[in-house]
Amino acid sequence: MSLVSAPMTGHDHYRVVMARARDKRRQRAVDAQAPTVVVCRGGDCGSRAKHPGVDHVGLLRETRELVAGAAQVVPSRCLDACEHSNVVVVVPAAAAPEGEPVWVGDVNDSDVNAALCEYVRAGGPGVADLPIELELRRATRRNREELDAERSAPGA
Ligand code: FES
Repeated sequence: MSLVSAPMTGHDHYRVVMARARDKRRQRAVDAQAPTVVVCRGGDCGSRAKHPGVDHVGLLRETRELVAGAAQVVPSRCLDACEHSNVVVVVPAAAAPEGEPVWVGDVNDSDVNAALCEYVRAGGPGVADLPIELELRRATRRNREELDAERSAPGA
């Protein structure tokens, strides 16, 4: 048996290129069916100072494990909803155009995170019903200007 591999022929190269193109088409088809889980890891979300005792790294790892094959997980910078940290946004799959992004706050323990991942695995926005424990944590997004205006309003 020879340890030297034969040089790649033009036909071999063609087969490799076609296989890669096929894999990309399959991945795009999967992505269109899959929600995206945006996990904020900005200033307050993921902060040990703000949330001592929360295993932020472990929660992100759990999220990746629990939704593997069903969604993509994207860490993000601050989403301007820091008062609800840790914030996760479930963006609907392209295949569920009637779905709206779902913002969930206080995702600070494994139980809430598991409920969120179960919702994502069930299809997420536009497909699955939001469980009550997540409905109660829905975060409304107000940007910093709105928060500042609210704080400086008379009587605030
Ligand atoms: S740090 Fe997460 S919303 Fe600001």
